[in-house]
Amino acid sequence: MDWSGVNYKDAMVSTPGNRVARISPLVPGVDLAGTVLATQTQDVQVGQSVLAHGHDIGVARHGGFAVLARLPSEWVLPMPDGLDARRTMVIGTAGFTAALSVDELERHGLLPGSGPVLVTGAAGGVGSMAIAILAWRGYEVVASTGRQTEEPWLRGLGAAQVISRQALEDAPGRVLGSERWAGAVDCVGGDTLAKVLRGLRYGAAVAASGLTGGSGLETTVFPFITRQVALLGIDSVLTSRSRRQEIWHRLGDDLQPPDLESHVDSEVSLDQLEEPLRRILDGRVRGRVLVRPG
Ligand SMILES: NC(=O)c1ccc[n+]([C@@H]2O[C@H](COP(=O)([O-])OP(=O)(O)OC[C@H]3O[C@@H](n4cnc5c(N)ncnc54)[C@H](OP(=O)(O)O)[C@@H]3O)[C@@H](O)[C@H]2O)c1
Repeated sequence: MDWSGVNYKDAMVSTPGNRVARISPLVPGVDLAGTVLATQTQDVQVGQSVLAHGHDIGVARHGGFAVLARLPSEWVLPMPDGLDARRTMVIGTAGFTAALSVDELERHGLLPGSGPVLVTGAAGGVGSMAIAILAWRGYEVVASTGRQTEEPWLRGLGAAQVISRQALEDAPGRVLGSERWAGAVDCVGGDTLAKVLRGLRYGAAVAASGLTGGSGLETTVFPFITRQVALLGIDSVLTSRSRRQEIWHRLGDDLQPPDLESHVDSEVSLDQLEEPLRRILDGRVRGRVLVRPG
């Protein structure tokens, strides 16, 4: 294995008593990239550069925090043109989820020039990748973060404006806020997602992928029935193989943000994992932590 990365789910499965890991003991690591050493099928070739993420990897089957991994060949993807093992893991599950979110918003009708697009959880993995991808495609990106100190970095990624978590709410106590967002990428969930729904413009959509702010969702039907907004669910685990390949192809091409290295928070070896796993749970990782297993 050449590279893996630290994702929020890796921290969840590493927490004692969690209900996410489905085997024990478990080697975490929901994504990985490397070179095929042996194969029993024709689907992949020895020496081929590949990546894998999602499915049961790092949850019900040993994952990327290891020197070697053994996976069903149908879960393994050829390295996309325009990327290598390190770059795919800088993007990782977080970046794939961000790209899937942008792609789903565009399928729903979002276009550059539509208006401000909100990204919540901005300084984390999904959020920071979403900012960079959207800005690269010409969108006006508004980043919402609990870490105002990261404003210069977020602006460097392409955010036109950086707002606090509190500023998401512009009409507290009202069922609807003003129509602010032409679209939104939300990986925070909970109360944040409810606030995002209240601030979407007529006909706009939010792509929702995460739960760092909570798994509950208390809302009213008004955003849906008076503003025709859409809540688009984003799942990277069971994405079909063809859709996975399509998104990775785009990540090697038109969705690939410039300066991927600026997303790297740090690089760790297998015996240095404890600290970033704790930090990601506390919402203190900036961008992506890379894992070098060898
Ligand atoms: N659906 C899928 O397939 C899929 C795939 C990948 C990830 N996810 C989920 O997406 C979420 C983000 O993953 P990630 O890898 O990007 O994690 P991450 O790097 O930790 O980023 C999450 C961000 O959420 C914000 N945050 C943390 N705690 C918060 C709180 N209590 N209230 C409000 N905001 C909070 C922080 O951003 P700021 O400091 O900037 O506010 C943090 O950086 C996780 O829930 C993960 O499980 C889902």
